[in-house]
Parts: sequence; structure tokens; C-alpha cells
Amino acid sequence: MNSKHQYVELSDGYFIPALGFGTYKPEEVPNCKTKEATKIAIEAGLRHIDCAYVYQVEEEVGLAIRSKRADGTVKREDIFYTTKLWSTFHRPKLAQSCLERSLKKLHLDYVDLYLIHYPLSMKPGEELYPRDENGKLMYDTVDLCAIWEAMEKCKDAGLAKSIGVSNFNRRQLEMILNKPGLRYKLVCNQVECHVYLNQKKLLDFCKSKNIVLVAYGALGTQRDKKMSSPVPLEDPVLGALAKKHKRSLALIALCYQLQRGVVVLAQSLKKNEIKENIQVFDFELTSKDMKDLDGMNRNLRYLPYKIKDIIALMYCFDKQDEYE
Ligand SMILES: NC(=O)c1ccc[n+]([C@@H]2O[C@H](COP(=O)([O-])OP(=O)(O)OC[C@H]3O[C@@H](n4cnc5c(N)ncnc54)[C@H](OP(=O)(O)O)[C@@H]3O)[C@@H](O)[C@H]2O)c1
Repeated sequence: MNSKHQYVELSDGYFIPALGFGTYKPEEVPNCKTKEATKIAIEAGLRHIDCAYVYQVEEEVGLAIRSKRADGTVKREDIFYTTKLWSTFHRPKLAQSCLERSLKKLHLDYVDLYLIHYPLSMKPGEELYPRDENGKLMYDTVDLCAIWEAMEKCKDAGLAKSIGVSNFNRRQLEMILNKPGLRYKLVCNQVECHVYLNQKKLLDFCKSKNIVLVAYGALGTQRDKKMSSPVPLEDPVLGALAKKHKRSLALIALCYQLQRGVVVLAQSLKKNEIKENIQVFDFELTSKDMKDLDGMNRNLRYLPYKIKDIIALMYCFDKQDEYE
């Protein structure tokens, strides 16, 4: 065991596995691929599964977990499962029903972590992306603190062990932290974070408040291949470190996050990649390596393409682009 711990303690006393398996996939990829990949991930030793209501793969992920429980590979308590409250369920009366829908699909009694997926509300209804007759997304106005109170009720009901947020900037985190009558502190903030967007300021703030930062897109995300932006896994700095440590560029990118105290997610549908990613615990970067990696930051955001237009409208993603 080296300086990277395989589990990180959350402020509520639960432990989150430091490496998580991401289950988002583009719509055109069949859901059965996620089921198979999740089984492979569990077999490979991954215990943290990151999903969301909006990914629409919870049935398949649930099937994979059930199958690995049935064959004795894991028990329920070995798995750390995260799901997220979708933006059309923000009204306080709806927040729990979103989680209940996830749990029903998963055939689980509780999730380990429930996150507010985005600090942006959309009109309630069955459409995940409700649009008006002109094709414009229909937003809703719900107070973030009221959403948080609904999250607290999910924890009270025993449906979620821990509660947190995703895609929140510092100001939004502070709104929750300073909420009068706060009963449960948010344990984590899941945000895009990689060598080109290292979120240093947000990470420092989160650390000062005992909030765990969970990184998504750490491998440069399933970015729109048509985009001309640079690809982290082709970067010469990562390449040189990969050569030095005789590891892949992906492993260097994941290791970087773990060694700065970030919980990191990695998505793949490929057996070799899934099995490779867990090897991140087998080696260590030096402080000079870490400094070189810090130097790669360029505040470059790869927006998940489907919600690009939503995010563009979010007041939280403005000029500085570092959730500040
Ligand atoms: N909270 C949020 O708003 C939010 C947003 C986005 C994502 N997430 C979560 O974070 C997870 C991860 O983020 P992400 O899905 O955007 O992408 P990611 O993990 O940054 O990148 C995924 C891509 O990396 C490649 N990859 C994985 N392992 C590799 C390896 N060992 N070597 C080379 N390439 C490798 C895979 O490409 P190939 O398989 O094509 O090789 C895969 O498409 C998601 O699945 C989801 O659970 C959350």
C-alpha cells in the first residue's frame, strides 16, 4: 500500500472507495454493454459504481450487481453505489420519488450516495429534457436550500446513506453550508476535473470544509470526437510520465487525482481498460511528477455534449470556468 488510500472517509463517517467506475454512456451504445462492463468492473475489484437516474442504465447496473451478489463475488455492503437526483425532480415533493425510481430499477433498498446532479432545475414531468414548442429547454425555479432539505429527508428515510452535490461552484456550496437549520452537511461535490481542468481553487475550498471532491472526466471524458480541443491522453507530459513509470497515460491521469486527495471516476466498456484502471494503486508519482502534472492545467472544460446547452445557461459556469 502506498500513499494513495483505497478508501476516503466522508464527513458523515462513511467511507467512499477512491476509484469509482463510471456508467455514463452515449445513447447509441446498447444498455447491455453497461451491464457487462459493470460485471467486469466488479470482478476486477472495483467497488464504487457511479450512476444517475438520467443515464437510464440503472436497470442494467442493478442486474450486474445482483448477478455478482448471487455468484458470491460481493455482498451489498461491499458495493458503494451513487445515484443522482435529476433536474426535473427538484421540487421538494419530487426529490424522494426520483430516488425511489432509481432504487426500484436497481432492486436495492438504499444507495450509498445521493447527489443533486446539477444546481439547475427543469420543469417536472416525464421528459428528461423538457422543451417548449420552440425546442427551448424549460427551466424551473427551485431554491437550492429547499432541494437540500428534500435530500436530507431521503437520508432520514434510510434511502441514502450519504448525501452530496455535483457541478456546484463555491458560492452554491456555501449556500448549503450556511443554510439556517442545516441538518446534514454535504459530503462531496462531483465535478469535471482532469489535468487540463485541475480545479485547484475548488479543491482547496472543499478540503477546507471537509468536502470530498469527486472527479469526473478524469480521462478526458467521452468527449465529442468532432471537437478540436486537445486530448489529455495524447499529451506529451502525460506521455513522458507514462514512459517513466511504465504505465499507461490513463493510469498517470487517475493516479494524479488520487494523490491530490481526489476521489476519481473512470468509465470504460472495455475489459482491458477496466482491469487496467484498478492498477492505479500499484505505483506512486513523485512530488516532481505531481508538479509537472499541476502545470498542465489550462482551465479547459469538456462539457458533456447532451447538456451543453443547459450548462451554457448555468450561471455557475461563467468566465473563469473554475466554479469560482
Ligand atoms: N456528475 C456529472 O455531471 C457527471 C458528468 C459526466 C460524467 N460523470 C460520471 O463520471 C464518469 C466518468 O466520466 P466520463 O464518462 O465522462 O469519462 P472518463 O472516465 O473521463 O473517460 C472515459 C473514456 O476514457 C477511456 N478510457 C478509460 N479507461 C482507459 C484506459 N485505461 N486507457 C485508455 N483509455 C481509457 C474510454 O474510452 P474507450 O472506452 O473508448 O477506450 C472512455 O470512453 C461517468 O461515466 C459518470 O459516471 C458525471
